[in-house]
Amino acid sequence: MRLAIIGDLHYPDELLNNKVLIKDARDAFYEQFMNLFLSIPADYHISVGDMVHAGEFSEFNYIMGKIKDSKHSRRFLHVLGNHDTYTYPKEEILSVTRQQRYSVIEETNAIIILLDTARENRDDWSGTLDDEQLTWLEAQVKRKSEKPLFVFGHHPLYNTTARSTEPMMSLDPSLDIWPILKQWQGVGFYFNGHNHVHSIVRKENWHFIQTASILDIPAARILTVLEDEIRLEMVNLASEQLSKWSSLFTFSIFDYEKYPQAEGETRDQELIINRLQMDRKQVDQQ
Ligand SMILES: [Fe+2]
Repeated sequence: MRLAIIGDLHYPDELLNNKVLIKDARDAFYEQFMNLFLSIPADYHISVGDMVHAGEFSEFNYIMGKIKDSKHSRRFLHVLGNHDTYTYPKEEILSVTRQQRYSVIEETNAIIILLDTARENRDDWSGTLDDEQLTWLEAQVKRKSEKPLFVFGHHPLYNTTARSTEPMMSLDPSLDIWPILKQWQGVGFYFNGHNHVHSIVRKENWHFIQTASILDIPAARILTVLEDEIRLEMVNLASEQLSKWSSLFTFSIFDYEKYPQAEGETRDQELIINRLQMDRKQVDQQ
């Protein structure tokens, strides 16, 4: 199984500067980025939230249109981010993005879980999980399976990836979901966006993988599940053209600031897990 994963897209319909040159740069940027992303062969193409900047239907329709009109027919998955729920109720957004609020997908050699960590509150951009999902998630991780588990949510767990201890840059710190995730017997991977900096942190049999905003770093993570290993690679989609376009319009996005050193360190880029070794560790711990 192969997954292609991107960080926050932040597609903005409205720009502070309405010059044609600026709007054209935005359109050219997203057109090319989405083409490059969708041309990557994968079983699922996944956005870790903040697909759009202001939560407007026109913004969702723009990105969904790019996916629909692509010459590649792709299975697209998206988890809700705080910017996605900025303006309209979740149910209305989900009908445009054709997603379930949270769900599980069982593949032959992997389990994928998609979570809704977003609030419907502009003034609080931290994440949460409602009781319904917490109960559901606990039942999922209690399952016995040899397959690796891949969980996707917009917000990181508190005190895991880079910036996740800053105010509102994680799931609610008082909502400790680590004891839930810990119940998973196999290898687990938690993917998130939100913090706009690449970061990979390991905690016991889990890896926490955060992906930077594509406006700061145009890239995609590719996850491949092989029999003996799990590979997480970075595909650099940057080009002179893309950076020229993004430098023209990103300063015109209301309240968007580029995050410095969003690429993180070398250890935040790629990962290879030898499954035999991970499984051995599990046996040793028991
Ligand atoms: Fe974001």
